[in-house]
Amino acid sequence: MVFYFTGTGNSLYVARQLEEKPLSIPQVMRGDSFDFTDESIGVVAPIYGHELPPMVKEFIRKSSFHTDYFYVILTYGLRHGGASELARDFCESCGVHVAYANIVLMGDNFLPGYDMEIEQKADKHVDEQLAPIVGDVRRRVHKISAVTEEDREIHRENVARNAARPVGELQHLIVVVADRCIGCGICTRVCPTASMRLVDGKAEHIPGKCEICMACAQACPQLAITTSRPEKNPHARYRNEHVTLEDIIEANCQF
Ligand SMILES: Cc1cc2nc3c(=O)[nH]c(=O)nc-3n(C[C@H](O)[C@H](O)[C@H](O)COP(=O)(O)O)c2cc1C
Repeated sequence: MVFYFTGTGNSLYVARQLEEKPLSIPQVMRGDSFDFTDESIGVVAPIYGHELPPMVKEFIRKSSFHTDYFYVILTYGLRHGGASELARDFCESCGVHVAYANIVLMGDNFLPGYDMEIEQKADKHVDEQLAPIVGDVRRRVHKISAVTEEDREIHRENVARNAARPVGELQHLIVVVADRCIGCGICTRVCPTASMRLVDGKAEHIPGKCEICMACAQACPQLAITTSRPEKNPHARYRNEHVTLEDIIEANCQF
């Protein structure tokens, strides 16, 4: 049994290497059954600020996993900041024992930080990273991927930076450029938290539950959804090359 969360397909691609039909966390969260039993149970998710996305944390918090082998695979774009260790510590704080945690460097979908054209074209040797990880999981290897003191320091600095930001600032990162919006509604269907809606035929972002996963901005065919921080390349968007728009909709659509 493999669960995944994704904004732009990287984590779905990884989850599919582990199991043919992984389960979408945003869809599981709509149900009322949180008791899971299997020989092995995995969670695949992107890291946000080196940590699990809030919905993934909530999913782990409210679930009971009955398995001898629980594992976490984290996708990231540049700096993991000790993500394996942080995810392990979070899971253990929820009473979930993590046998294995590892990380996969992939395209970075953080729109305000990076040029999506470069991220889309970059060859980060994903399959070469994945092969040993899939082998480890099949053989039920017990391991938490290496974390250095420098990684931990990067995370501490990030926590301090975020603490200095006005509360909720990141929730308002997503901005709809209304003039360009044609009201196609794709953003409402790729959002895992129903944080986009159409008002008078134009998309509107509702902060609050937004995971800031970038799915809406990355999937908008008009490039009408942007961020309140200047973009490195306003003309480019990212989606994992093996994943379709329909896959993202199936993973995330909340209606
Ligand atoms: C809000 C946000 C925060 C992120 N934080 C980090 C980070 O701390 N370190 C990093 O290397 N990548 C970071 N990323 C990049 C993603 O973790 C990475 O692109 C991931 O593979 C995306 O997975 P997905 O396509 O399944 O959504 C962040 C992305 C977003 C949207």
